[in-house]
Amino acid sequence: MRLSGKTVLITGAARGIGQAIAERLAAAGADVAVADLRRGMLDETVSRIEAHGRRAVAIEVDVTQRAQVDAMVRSAAAELGRIDAFFANAGIIEVQNFLDVDEGTYDRIMAVNTKGVFLCGQAVARQMIAQGDGGRIVVTASVASRVGIPDMAAYAASKAAAMSLTRSMALALAPHGINVNALAPGIVSTDMWVQIDAQRGQLRNKAVGESLRERVSTIPLGRAAIPADVAAVAEFLVSDDAAYLTGQTINIDGGALPS
Ligand SMILES: NC(=O)c1ccc[n+]([C@@H]2O[C@H](COP(=O)([O-])OP(=O)(O)OC[C@H]3O[C@@H](n4cnc5c(N)ncnc54)[C@H](O)[C@@H]3O)[C@@H](O)[C@H]2O)c1
Repeated sequence: MRLSGKTVLITGAARGIGQAIAERLAAAGADVAVADLRRGMLDETVSRIEAHGRRAVAIEVDVTQRAQVDAMVRSAAAELGRIDAFFANAGIIEVQNFLDVDEGTYDRIMAVNTKGVFLCGQAVARQMIAQGDGGRIVVTASVASRVGIPDMAAYAASKAAAMSLTRSMALALAPHGINVNALAPGIVSTDMWVQIDAQRGQLRNKAVGESLRERVSTIPLGRAAIPADVAAVAEFLVSDDAAYLTGQTINIDGGALPS
């Protein structure tokens, strides 16, 4: 199997894209530590990993808190023996018109989507450097890293910063054999898009499902992504096949953005 003997840590793994990455990597032979805000949220992901006969470790973490992030990395490394690959995937969103974005919401989104990537990236990189034989770090950015979005200004800014951190980490960690890349999904059918559709619908007076349908109708490949579409690229990025790839942000958007 492609990832036999590998160990992986994933944040935001209780559901959605993080859960699909965990499942896909377990199917490819990896043991997986999964982290999220509340330990109980992780049970379903743990069962899916174990169904592939792989080891699962569940860790409670708030990625905005340095002490918790450091403890997460210590505990994943202790339980699995080492960390070969890390996914900074936890993220949050709020849909608000630019003029209505309040400071608290802006700070919260930046704390999870940007500072969380920084804190986790630093802690995991220190662990990988101590291990002495390289590693892989993958950040979940977004097509929002590359464009302005009038009712998601804070989210787009946080994801642009996550893409920038990916580039800087790739350069800083290359001498240690650690490759750092980012996934940039477009529209993925997860609970996050249920929230976006509901909030955007309220702002624009649209029925449930209408905002999502409108966006999907602009995608050249004619459908939203499913989490497994993103997980397939995730597996590639931590496989030996991606050995010469670093500092890149890969759109997984059905052709929605010209690259
Ligand atoms: N769904 C999409 O269309 C889409 C598109 C582009 C990028 N993304 C990004 O993909 C990632 C996963 O999104 P998803 O669609 O699976 O969303 P989701 O809401 O289903 O999952 C996000 C997970 O992150 C966890 N999380 C939130 N804050 C956290 C914190 N402070 N500490 C630890 N865990 C935390 C949540 O509990 C949840 O389990 C996010 O970074 C998101 O921004 C999603």
